[in-house]
Amino acid sequence: MNKKPTVYCCKNHSEIGSVTAALIADAIKKNPNLVLGLPTGQTPVPVYQELCKMYKAGELDCSGVTTFNLDEYFHRGKGDPDSYYTFMHEQLFDHVPFKASYFPDSSGELATEIDKNCKQYDALIESVGGIDLQILGIGSNGHIGFNEPSSTWSEGTAFVKLTPQTVSDNAKKFYNGNELLVPKTAISMGTNQIMRAKSIILIASGEDKAKAISDTIDGIVTPRVPASKLQNHDDVTFIIDEDAAKFLD
Ligand code: GLP
Repeated sequence: MNKKPTVYCCKNHSEIGSVTAALIADAIKKNPNLVLGLPTGQTPVPVYQELCKMYKAGELDCSGVTTFNLDEYFHRGKGDPDSYYTFMHEQLFDHVPFKASYFPDSSGELATEIDKNCKQYDALIESVGGIDLQILGIGSNGHIGFNEPSSTWSEGTAFVKLTPQTVSDNAKKFYNGNELLVPKTAISMGTNQIMRAKSIILIASGEDKAKAISDTIDGIVTPRVPASKLQNHDDVTFIIDEDAAKFLD
């Protein structure tokens, strides 16, 4: 049976950072070998800043923690300034040592090769016992990872095409509005796979996320709003600010 999710309503984006980082630090204290799933985007930036601060202050030890990122732009990766690999290293991994940090393999040309890389990522996650704690952001259209609104639920890691809405959102946030510069395809963990994480924390900040948040928490469960599937998970916490909470019942 599903429990009602816990919803923390924070004053602002920066408080989302401190509340979420405190929960992550607590989970690591309880399980020093935690398997942690991580998102990119602007929303987690204060979370990563807070984790860096805790580490510098000697309050956090991630040396036993293994991380898996949710997604990576297709044909980007190590050495590419636009990759999520680079983003995560700049924000967190260059400052806090982890046991190991993995990203979906976004290389490959043939469909069979891409599929093989995706299956290897899934197998790697399984081989360490699955994800204990998954942190998620959310797209303004309700996507999680890069699982866009669709007529079916996605299963494991796979090649995905971004919707015009996501391309436009990412252009505004990271490319001065220039959609030509935004990657249009990616490799993402699937929604059903994300659901297998033992605990999930979803973070959201700002008015542009308010509709997606109310559809996710109060709406019907539908692959048209990928995050709505979280209603079927037993251990989900939403950490959102007042602007993102404004349409909640
Ligand atoms: C991208 C990522 C998602 C992230 C979303 C929201 O699409 N693939 O994992 O949740 O952006 O990003 P932001 O936090 O910048 O709003």
